Amino acid sequence: MEAWDEYYHSMHGALNEAIHVYIESGLAFWKAEHGIKKNPCTVFEMGFGTGLNALLTLEYAAANDFTILYETLEPFPLALQEVQELNFDSLPTLQNSKESLRKLHLAPWESSVQISSTFSLIKHKILLEKFMPQRQYDVIYYDAFGFRVQPEMWSEEILRPLVNAMSPNGVLVTYSAKGSVRRALEVLGLDVFRIEGPPGKREMLRAIRF
Ligand SMILES: C[S@@+](CC[C@H](N)C(=O)[O-])C[C@H]1O[C@@H](n2cnc3c(N)ncnc32)[C@H](O)[C@@H]1O
Repeated sequence: MEAWDEYYHSMHGALNEAIHVYIESGLAFWKAEHGIKKNPCTVFEMGFGTGLNALLTLEYAAANDFTILYETLEPFPLALQEVQELNFDSLPTLQNSKESLRKLHLAPWESSVQISSTFSLIKHKILLEKFMPQRQYDVIYYDAFGFRVQPEMWSEEILRPLVNAMSPNGVLVTYSAKGSVRRALEVLGLDVFRIEGPPGKREMLRAIRF
């Protein structure tokens, strides 16, 4: 029971962080500013991982009657079973998410797949270093592993193609508030704001292409 409590708390923490950083500070912020004029909204996510951010975005689209084209990269995909073992649907917010999560993971690579009436998905099995954006993105979720684990993912060089692919008024959000990341985004021409972080973290970054 203790292990379950601990597990539940860490899952709950991950969920709250994803909602705060990507959905509220990124997608909902962009929608409040520009959402009415743009359909579909294009979202790019660096690092599909468990699919949690994609799932939350899919649910946001459904709840807000908002159409999203979601493009994401994952060079090291998890097996569906590994993801199912995380039991996202044990969390109250994600109670009915099992089927959507399955569809997100089983969607074929490198093609556009309609997952729901308001959400289509393009997954690329490729390293960010090799990826060449083919469209403009309204919202970017930059969810790489942390600087200590993968410092190369936070450099100006690696961020440049993504920043260049941002739409006018596009928004990039990341959980990192590191000074060097902020400076790299500024050098690339974005206006960068340190904003309130998710519970337990003081700050995060929101960068806007004005
Ligand atoms: C913090 S996790 C992303 C979590 C994910 N957004 C989610 O909702 O579960 C970082 C992800 O980046 C992927 N990754 C690692 N190196 C990468 C690279 N060079 N290019 C693209 N993705 C990479 C990892 O496999 C991992 O899934």
